[in-house]
Amino acid sequence: MTALRSHIDVASEGFRRNAEDFEVNREVIARARAAALAGGTEKAHRKHAARGKLTARQRVARLLDPGTPLLEVGQLAAHDVYDEPVPSAALVTGVGIVAGRPFMVFANDATVKGGTYFPLGVRKHLRGQKIARENGLGCIYLVDSGGVFLPLQEDLFPDEDHLGRIFRNIAEMSAEGLPQLAGVLGSCTAGGAYIPAMCDETVMVRGTGTVFLGGPQLVRAATGEVVDAETLGGADLHTRVTGVADHLAETDDHALQILRDLAARSSRPPLSPPARTPRPPKYDPAELPGVVSAGLKEHIPAREILARLLDESEFTEYRARFGPTIVCGTGHVGGYPVGVLINDGVLFSESAQKAANFIEVCAQRDIPLLFLHNINGFMVGAEYEAGGITKHGAKLVNAVSCAKVPKFSLVIGGSYGAGNFAMCGRSMGSQLMAMWPSARSTVVGAEQTAKVMTLIRGDQLAKEGRELTPEEEAEIREPILASYERQAQPLYYAARLWVDAVVDPVETRDWLALCLAMAADAPKRETRFGVFRM
Ligand code: COA
Repeated sequence: MTALRSHIDVASEGFRRNAEDFEVNREVIARARAAALAGGTEKAHRKHAARGKLTARQRVARLLDPGTPLLEVGQLAAHDVYDEPVPSAALVTGVGIVAGRPFMVFANDATVKGGTYFPLGVRKHLRGQKIARENGLGCIYLVDSGGVFLPLQEDLFPDEDHLGRIFRNIAEMSAEGLPQLAGVLGSCTAGGAYIPAMCDETVMVRGTGTVFLGGPQLVRAATGEVVDAETLGGADLHTRVTGVADHLAETDDHALQILRDLAARSSRPPLSPPARTPRPPKYDPAELPGVVSAGLKEHIPAREILARLLDESEFTEYRARFGPTIVCGTGHVGGYPVGVLINDGVLFSESAQKAANFIEVCAQRDIPLLFLHNINGFMVGAEYEAGGITKHGAKLVNAVSCAKVPKFSLVIGGSYGAGNFAMCGRSMGSQLMAMWPSARSTVVGAEQTAKVMTLIRGDQLAKEGRELTPEEEAEIREPILASYERQAQPLYYAARLWVDAVVDPVETRDWLALCLAMAADAPKRETRFGVFRM
C-alpha cells in the first residue's frame, strides 16, 4: 500500500473557482431532493395523518434499526417527468438494516396519487428487487397503494417488465430462500393486492389496511353489491377468515414492530463487519469540488480524487507505468476492500488491456469493483485504428460485462459513448450507479454532435453544389446543444432511473461504504469471460 500524496493547492484561484462553480450544480440537486423528501401535497398529508397513518418515510425510518442509514435507490425518480409532480415515483426504496440484517425496503407513498404505480414506480420497484436478488437480500414491502395509475396502463400492464414482473420476482425470490415480508398499512387494490398475497408472511393493520381485487366502487359498478372497504377486505377478515394475512396489528408502529421480529427470525444472517477498521482519508473529501472542473474541459487528476475517497488515502496501484490513462488499483472504503478503475485521460489500447487484466485479477480474488468515470471515449484516428483499438476496447467491455464480482459505478466527470460502456455504465450491469452533481453524460459531447451533424449536412449540400449558410448551421446546432445540455444532467438521469442516485462528493465515501457493506455477503458467483479477441 502506498499513501497517496496530494499536490493540489487548496488556496489557488483555480481551486476556489471550481468549488464555487460546483455550488450551482449542488443547489439544483438540493432543490430536487427537498421536493422528493416532501412527498405529496399538504392536503394529501393532512388526510393521511387524519387516518392515523405514518408517512412512507416515517415508516421506513421506524422499520430500520435506530440510527442506521437507508441506502436509497431512485430518490429522484420521476422528477419533472410526468404532467404533474410524482415525488420519488410514489415509492420509497432502499437497502436498510432491520434486526441487524440488510433488507431491501419498499414503501408506497399514499400521499402521491394514492401510492399508485406510475411506469417509473414499476421500474424502480423492479430495480430494487434486482439489487436485492443479486445481493441475496430479503425484501420488506410496506404496502399502501391503489395499484396501477390507470391513465397510463399501457406503459404499466402488458409487457414483460411491467407490474406483473413484481409478483413473479416475489415468487422467485421466495423460492430462492430470500425472505419476502409485507405490511399492509393502507389500501392494496387489484394488482397491489398481490404484493402481500404473494409474500411469505404478511402483517395487516386493523382499520386502515385493506386487500381486495376490486374496491367497493368497482364491486358496486360490477354487481350492484354495496359493501364497505373494511367488510370487503379489512384486517379482521383477512387474519381471521381468509388467511390472506398472518398477523393483526393495531397501528402502523405495531405492524413495523412485528415485521422487525419476523426479520430477526429470518434465514438471512446478520451483516458481517468490514474486513478492516474504517479510517478516514488523509485529505478531506470536502475538498473534492475544488478538484473537479465544473466545465469538465479540464483534466481531473485521478490520484487527487482517490486520495480523498480511500481509507487513509492508501492505494496499491496496478501496473502504474503501463497504459497510464486509466489508473487501476486496490484500496479500502469504510474498511471494505475495493478494486478501483479511474480514468486519467482518453482510453488507448494499452489502457484498455490493462483495465481488462485488472478486472480479471479482481474477479479471481473476489474483490468488488468501483468504476470512476471521467471519459470522453477511446482514442480515434488512423494510427489507433491500425493498432486495433476496437478489439482492445471490446476486450475491456467483455471483462466488464462478465466479471461476477459486485460492480459499482460513479460518474465524477464526463461519461461518453463507448467510454461509458467500458467504465461499466448502466447497460453493463453495475449493481448501483450514481453521478456527482457536476457530472454529465451523453453518447457524444454536444459540441462534437453539433459539428458532426453540420458536417453531414454540409456534405449533402455539396453534392447539390450548395454550401451551408450560417443560419442553416445555427438551425442544426442550437437545438442539439440545448437538448444535449438538458439530457446530460444528473437530475435528468436520476429522474429516469438511468442512475440510482446523485451523490454529493462529501457523501460519496458513505455511499460507497454502504454499497460495499450490502454486497459483502452477496452470494459468490463464478466468473467466466467471453472469448477475448487477442
Ligand atoms: N389510478 C389513477 N389515479 C388514482 C388511482 C388509480 N388507480 N387511485 C387513486 N388515484 C388518484 C385519485 O384520483 C386522487 O388524485 P388527486 O389527488 O389528483 O385527486 C389520488 O390518487 C388520491 O385518491 P383518493 O381516492 O382521493 O385518496 P384516498 O386515500 O381516499 O383513496 C385509494 C386512495 C387508492 C384507496 C382509492 O383512490 C382507490 O380505491 N383507487 C382505485 C384503486 C383501483 O381500483 N385500482 C385498480 C388499479 S389495478
